[in-house]
Amino acid sequence: MLQGKSILLGVSGGIAVYKAAELVRLFVKEGASVHVVMTANARQFVTTLTFQALSSNPVGCDLFSIESESRISHIEKAREADLVVLAPATANLMAKMAAGIADDYLTTILLATTAPVLVCPAMNVKMWEHPATRRNLKTLTELGYRVEPPAVGFLACQEEGAGRLADISNILESALRLLTPPTLEGRKVLVSAGPTREHFDPVRFLSNPSSGKMGYALARIAARRSATVTLVSGPCSLEAPARVERISVTSAAQMRDAVLNLSACQDAIVMTAAVSDYRPAEVSPRKIKKSPGQLSVVLAPNPDILASLGAAKPSGQVLVGFAAETENVAENARDKLMRKNLDLIVANDLTKEGAGFGAETNEVKIMGASEETSLCLMTKEEVAERIWDRVEKLLASGKN
Ligand code: C5P
Repeated sequence: MLQGKSILLGVSGGIAVYKAAELVRLFVKEGASVHVVMTANARQFVTTLTFQALSSNPVGCDLFSIESESRISHIEKAREADLVVLAPATANLMAKMAAGIADDYLTTILLATTAPVLVCPAMNVKMWEHPATRRNLKTLTELGYRVEPPAVGFLACQEEGAGRLADISNILESALRLLTPPTLEGRKVLVSAGPTREHFDPVRFLSNPSSGKMGYALARIAARRSATVTLVSGPCSLEAPARVERISVTSAAQMRDAVLNLSACQDAIVMTAAVSDYRPAEVSPRKIKKSPGQLSVVLAPNPDILASLGAAKPSGQVLVGFAAETENVAENARDKLMRKNLDLIVANDLTKEGAGFGAETNEVKIMGASEETSLCLMTKEEVAERIWDRVEKLLASGKN
């Protein structure tokens, strides 16, 4: 996800420095070239060797190093970076940045760079809450720095509160967002995800093995492209992606209410949810007692949410459905595209290895009225990227 990107990681002196080592590993794993710059205080906690080994690049420390300054390296480093991440950013570093002080290698680079800068503070809770830090934080935001707020929890100083370095996965997501062109800025999108549960008594239900991964990937990528994202999710174990409003539902009827309530104002709707086609006609208020012999449950059809959306589609809205099939994939998908009045349908063959329910990957066809693309097996995030590319094309053309 970070292939070809150059990230400068500024590390200042706090106990969370050890977590910055993990961050380097993650950035490198995602394909970024990482250059670490450490303040003198950071080097009291961890040596440069750790960061050099993890990044496979020399670590910058000394503004007056004869070797590097023969190339005016602080300016060079400031120019090369696509993104600067400061983790951990101490109260002291934030104060210097707010004042525009450039008295060491890192702060000099910070004045010289034009790349976006993501500040990830970590400090004692009292320091975080101090009016001077609050003021500096406000100044940094006004100056255009992005801030990944610290997490709340147990701190190294044995106190409890805000001040822990944000989760590494949140820092990675914010970094990805800053490096992603905001092609869906100003757009409202709704994604449905996961299975639905249709109870026939308080402890038993009808459902399917949908993990929600495809829908959550779509929501995450749309947020990364700066859309305003609502995720209507059936029961699943995934965490809500950053900057996504999640509405949790259980049954198809609840999903329909949540989706239809918000549908009219959306620029695009992608229904990935594996909605149960049927629900028990009657729901017992008490657990049905086990008894010898067979138990019959009569099923009633559920409303087709996507078909309702298609029937009432406002002009300009892009409506996308999914078709999970086990036979005649393209024919069945094309039939749904027409019948449900969709702009795109994403068809996948559930019998293929690595595709469909629960997998990390998917192999799909994206089909529109006039354009059909067969994608090879790829991660669900990559599939999500391709789907949003097509949606953006349709939104731009205004032809849907
Ligand atoms: O007709 P089929 O269930 O195969 O259609 C799949 C598509 O329709 C998916 O996008 C799914 O989210 C949506 N759907 C729905 N309401 C239903 C059944 C499916 O919105 N009751």
